[in-house]
Amino acid sequence: MIYLDHAATTPMRPEARDAMTPFLGDGFGNPSGVHAVSRRAKNALEGARERAAELLGAAGPLEIVFTGGGTESDNLGIAGPVLARGGGVAVSAIEHEAVLETAGFLARLGHGRTVIGVGADGRVDPAEAASLPGDTALVSVMAANNETGIRQPVAAVAAAVRRAIPGAVVHTDAVQEMVSEPVWIPDLGVDLLTIASHKLGGPKGVGLLWIREGVALEPVLHGGGQEMGRRSGTHDVAGIAGMVAAMESAVADRERFRERVGEARERFEARLWSELGATATASAGHRLVQHSHLHVPGVAADSLLIRLDAAGVAAAAGSACRSGAIGRSHVLAAMHIGEEQARSSLRFTFGWTSTPEEADAAARIVVEQAEALR
Ligand SMILES: Cc1ncc(COP(=O)(O)O)c(C=O)c1O
Repeated sequence: MIYLDHAATTPMRPEARDAMTPFLGDGFGNPSGVHAVSRRAKNALEGARERAAELLGAAGPLEIVFTGGGTESDNLGIAGPVLARGGGVAVSAIEHEAVLETAGFLARLGHGRTVIGVGADGRVDPAEAASLPGDTALVSVMAANNETGIRQPVAAVAAAVRRAIPGAVVHTDAVQEMVSEPVWIPDLGVDLLTIASHKLGGPKGVGLLWIREGVALEPVLHGGGQEMGRRSGTHDVAGIAGMVAAMESAVADRERFRERVGEARERFEARLWSELGATATASAGHRLVQHSHLHVPGVAADSLLIRLDAAGVAAAAGSACRSGAIGRSHVLAAMHIGEEQARSSLRFTFGWTSTPEEADAAARIVVEQAEALR
């Protein structure tokens, strides 16, 4: 199988697996205990927290809260400050469902909700900050979109929000971005940031939320008070060790990743452009190097995906997080892409295991299968 669905999830990096192994064996302790078995787990947990803080450029390790994945980090990072402070929430129209549905939950509780539209290029205009309601407590704009790979001007949005509503905090979901772009907190100007392990070559079901010191937060999981009361629940020490090893390896490998994946995507797309008349959804300057979201005129994406699966290529239509259902993509709708084009759009996402040779083989299969359908 040629795996071109890395935006859905990634194969585990060997470094992540190695980092997890001790905590799946002798190092099984609960870090909250008082004995030697717990201390070993606690040391690993706090070491991972320090390393995660360094890799993101956080001011200190206590700004990192470990969670059960990207969805939970988005829920805590958005509901947490809004519930603590009161006021409204503003999210961009192209956010992942974990963000959109959290804003919906807050709206049901009576908080104001504003949805910030995007242009035809799929990007938020930072000037939109000036028209947000004055009682907006939190604004969430993702770093890069999981369907199209389009990157957002997060630093400019954060600066514009500060000027327009000095009391508001800004959250960004950097789940798709970190594998290929620097995610460096001092450059972003945000207050909260979400990372998910399994998009980086780490295990599933683990993530982190970075929270700038001083940002008040109401927890969403209540219980034993772990993570300084911000996220209760016994720590998945193996998962956390695996995630931080994957982050470390992604950061160290980033330049080579960009070269390898950039070449793979270029060769893949060149063939689809010339042989199928396919076109990219996003302009090259604003998309992640690993994403190829494209339109194949005259071909139904769902039929092509089934044929590709049978021929040995794993790809996706729309967002992978909607459990396999191919519905109308809210991201493409927000970009005013019509039904017809949306129905013949596919997403191929390259990753740390991808090679240019594999991309050539995949392009050949895509061309064959698409031509068979036309
Ligand atoms: C941008 C984005 N945010 C959040 C999530 C959810 O992360 P998780 O699968 O770790 O819950 C995803 C998963 O696809 C994503 O792409």
